[in-house]
Amino acid sequence: MNYINRTYSVENISSIKLAKKFGTPIYCYSYKKIKENIFNFKENFNSFKPLICFSVKSNSNLYLLREMKRLGCGADVVSKGELIKALKAGIDPKKIVFSGVGKTFEELSYAINKKILLINAESKSEIVKIEKIAKTKKKTVDIGIRLNPNVDAKTLIQISTGKKTNKFGIAENDFYKLVNLVKKSKYLKLKCLSIHIGSQILDYKPYVKMLKILNRIIINSGHYFEFIDLGGGMGISYNDKIKKLNYSKYSREVYKFYKKHKSKIIFEPGRSIIGDAGVLICKVIYIKKTNNKNFVILDAGMNDLMRPALYGAEHKIIPAQKKNSILNKNIEFVGPICETTDSFLFLKKFQKLKENDVIVICDVGAYGMSLSSNYNLRPKPLEILIKQNKISIIKKREKILDIL
Ligand code: LLP
Repeated sequence: MNYINRTYSVENISSIKLAKKFGTPIYCYSYKKIKENIFNFKENFNSFKPLICFSVKSNSNLYLLREMKRLGCGADVVSKGELIKALKAGIDPKKIVFSGVGKTFEELSYAINKKILLINAESKSEIVKIEKIAKTKKKTVDIGIRLNPNVDAKTLIQISTGKKTNKFGIAENDFYKLVNLVKKSKYLKLKCLSIHIGSQILDYKPYVKMLKILNRIIINSGHYFEFIDLGGGMGISYNDKIKKLNYSKYSREVYKFYKKHKSKIIFEPGRSIIGDAGVLICKVIYIKKTNNKNFVILDAGMNDLMRPALYGAEHKIIPAQKKNSILNKNIEFVGPICETTDSFLFLKKFQKLKENDVIVICDVGAYGMSLSSNYNLRPKPLEILIKQNKISIIKKREKILDIL
């Protein structure tokens, strides 16, 4: 995913050609990059060979899930819809974990019928509900309890999940009570302790703190957990100033933990697998000069890529065709949606642009398409995968008729 003869290309295929052939906007993924990310992830944690459950919420494209399966991943799901998709992709139920604070009776029933590896419960009420369902079905169900360790993951406040003020998981004092409750049940088996402190984590130290707390709580609980599910959250580099997570340091700490507790480690990565493997190819509709700045109005909007509007996230924006001429003016890349927050990036300078130029928004593989909507009644974009010079349409462009 780089420039070839000054043209931005995905696995040797020019983004300009893709724009011409398919129209814009397009979510375009590189198979090679996905494979490399999974390979590196496995390598980094090779000392304890974790089960990698790809977090389906980060990208739920069925075709991509099938590739994840072929590359050895399981799935982390948070709804019946995601569970159905993971199963449809052929992922082994014994490699699927189900998280989330609000699983309904129907969702739990479905997950129990499908005999997935673990349901990670997040409240006493949920545990009671699982037990009731298990009892009527005359089954024993393997569950995990998600702990809220009250750790600050030092990430965006909106994507922090492990602090005591967050709705996720169970606080330490209640955790012990629930361990005892589950141990008494005829229908439940407490197999896992799960945890997930947040997303886009760049510093390994919050993870170290998390492991320390886990260590203490496991010992205090007096229970052997067959699985410890450490969640996902590994951050990626969205621009040159951001250094991605130091995997070797994190891995060393988990290995020490693993040797002590002898539990199978599960990870639920999303962004670190698919984030930098996808770009959004779009086009300049208009350039609107004002007294303050030049608005570059793209044909992709916040309905296609929500992260900037929702979290103030910054994604690199680059030209599909590199030129030498620089436009030294304040430039704001915006979408066509009727919202002021429909703005992607402000830059002091960019190369000279004209209407119809092709533009690439980088690192949108995770929480790009999966967060997209039909706001302003706009059809969702096309998704394509490039694999060994072959272009596959992995989700057709929605038509207006589909959403009317
Ligand atoms: N496991 C659980 C229980 C989670 O809640 C999440 C993400 C993950 C795993 C995967 O985390 P990852 O490895 O992708 O960081 N929409 C936001 C991110 C929300 C993350 C929600 N939970 C964004 O665009 O930054």
